[in-house]
Amino acid sequence: MTTRRAMASEYLEWAKLCSAAKYNLATSGIMGYPLAELAVKAEELEINGPTAYGWSPLTERLARLCGTTPECVVEAAGTAMANHLAMAVLIDPGDDVLVEEPTYGPMVEVASYLGGNILRFARREENEWQIEPEEVQRRITAKTRLICLTNLHNPTGALTDEATLERVGEMARKVGARVLVDEVYLPMVYGQKVRSSFLLGETFVVTTSLTKAYGLSGLRCGWILAEPELAHRMWRLNDLFAASAVNVGRQLSVVALDALEKIDARARRILDANRASQNNFFEARKDLGGFRSRWGTVTFPKLLRGSVDAFCDFLRERYETSVVPGRFFERPDHFRMGMGGDVAMTAEGLKRLGAALDEFGASQA
Ligand SMILES: Cc1ncc(COP(=O)(O)O)c(C=O)c1O
Repeated sequence: MTTRRAMASEYLEWAKLCSAAKYNLATSGIMGYPLAELAVKAEELEINGPTAYGWSPLTERLARLCGTTPECVVEAAGTAMANHLAMAVLIDPGDDVLVEEPTYGPMVEVASYLGGNILRFARREENEWQIEPEEVQRRITAKTRLICLTNLHNPTGALTDEATLERVGEMARKVGARVLVDEVYLPMVYGQKVRSSFLLGETFVVTTSLTKAYGLSGLRCGWILAEPELAHRMWRLNDLFAASAVNVGRQLSVVALDALEKIDARARRILDANRASQNNFFEARKDLGGFRSRWGTVTFPKLLRGSVDAFCDFLRERYETSVVPGRFFERPDHFRMGMGGDVAMTAEGLKRLGAALDEFGASQA
């Protein structure tokens, strides 16, 4: 049986057209960092700049941030393009591509678009959405060329530890596959040392950006970490995609990277405050089940009674509040909440979410 390759992302269409609300608990990133707070001098920006492979002021900073060297860094427009470019080099049509389930939709859709034969390994809520190496082992095949996962996990925020990643890496090596780890949420593990999985060896390819953890989405500063020969192939393939970068974007990214400590401290303050509100919210709820991550911006509760899609419509229409229906993450009885937004807006959104759950629950009785 042949299945048609993906040509679009239902989730991204929904996110762009339907997720906005006065009280937005649907977004997964830290609220936007204002340009006015970056020490940017307009006269230092230039429209045109170098067009060779990698701009060293940027690649050197990114390499330092990740504990590697610039030859391993490939610039890309956000993690979105980083995933596409990395997969385009790593997947040939007909290859088996093993992707975690649930996951961020485009991980599957990009692999499918590139002609990959998609296989899945399950993460289970009963096991706090952790990766179970035995499950990966059950699903891996001799034709598997790529294993894809997110760390922190989208939609649940679960953190995968190094020992588990190493075991997945070993299984991949045995069949000649690589492991692609999307680490766009990983910087939001605070107060605990976590390294990029790229540092675990050449089997690992990592994608990330300044988008989610720092509120800098509009810069589209994404990148791939890959061993130098692979990185070189990605740069060359990128000549068929974006060819060259937005120079002002690169320059602003360098300014942001030099101020990253301050930007990170702001993100942490927002998340700490919102997490405290969210913990209080969950304590009072008997109608929501599921695992709660300590890290990142997203959490993925299960609605214990009633239809999540009906509840999400009700929440938006009556309470001007949005969350993401779990059907976009292959779990239609869950919904995803984000906590990277403005602190007062998030607190009010949670109040409204609670009132909506009360009213919706009463109507289900
Ligand atoms: C796991 C994951 N990867 C990539 C992206 C896209 O990130 P970026 O804005 O860096 O392109 C998202 C956005 O929601 C995401 O959740």
